[in-house]
Amino acid sequence: ARFAQKEPFWSGKKVLITVGPTREPIDPVRYFSNYSSGKMGFALAEAAVEKGAEVVLVTGPTHLEPPAGVTIKQVNSAEEMFQQVTEQFQSAEVTIKAAAVADYHPTITYSQKHKKKQDQWMVELEPTKDILMKLGSTKTADQLLIGFAAESERVAEYAKGKLKKKNLDLIVANDISAEGAGFDGDTNIISIFDRKGGEQSFPLASKKQAANHILETIKSFALEHPA
Ligand code: CTP
Ligand code: CA
Repeated sequence: ARFAQKEPFWSGKKVLITVGPTREPIDPVRYFSNYSSGKMGFALAEAAVEKGAEVVLVTGPTHLEPPAGVTIKQVNSAEEMFQQVTEQFQSAEVTIKAAAVADYHPTITYSQKHKKKQDQWMVELEPTKDILMKLGSTKTADQLLIGFAAESERVAEYAKGKLKKKNLDLIVANDISAEGAGFDGDTNIISIFDRKGGEQSFPLASKKQAANHILETIKSFALEHPA
């Protein structure tokens, strides 16, 4: 990043990024989660800071070192992420939801550890709030909202469906079944769709390169379609 340049478009803009998995507690020692590493969101945060943005990163649990110059808000559950994101959203000009938010959480979180028994243990799950959907329903014309879509089949179709349903400006799709585009790897293969029908596909790239592709595409979209 030695040669990264601050850019007028990004300078001083508040960019809110969510990242990582969430953990949905079952009891004091157990949780449901997913394989998200947080690498894509951290790469986005780093790239946005290099371009001059003021970055707030709302992050679920990861093993990553926070990039310098980023404001970090640590959360665990989808509900905590919802609270933090809601607090930060209004003042953010650009919001990028790279987090792999859990879709379900246990209906009951037990306050005592569940003891081992010989019979089956059924844990009931109920849906979490769809954070991105709520943001899409409250965003103003001058805010840009970008979602992610992790798909294992019919990538373009499902991604475009989410773009519309959640009222997004752009959506970054990745095919998690493709070699080099996993949830946890250092590379990604992305396509980006915008609400005006534009679409762009990028070849296999490092997550940092992919982050720069995403930020470039957001900038071009904003300049071509001013509020
Ligand atoms: N998302 C969110 N809150 C949730 C679930 C998802 O904000 N409770 C966001 C993710 O951060 C991502 C986008 O919605 O930007 C799409 O997430 P994804 O898991 O691909 O789609 P879902 O709408 O959850 O649908 P499904 O998992 O069934 O494909
Ligand atoms: Ca999901």
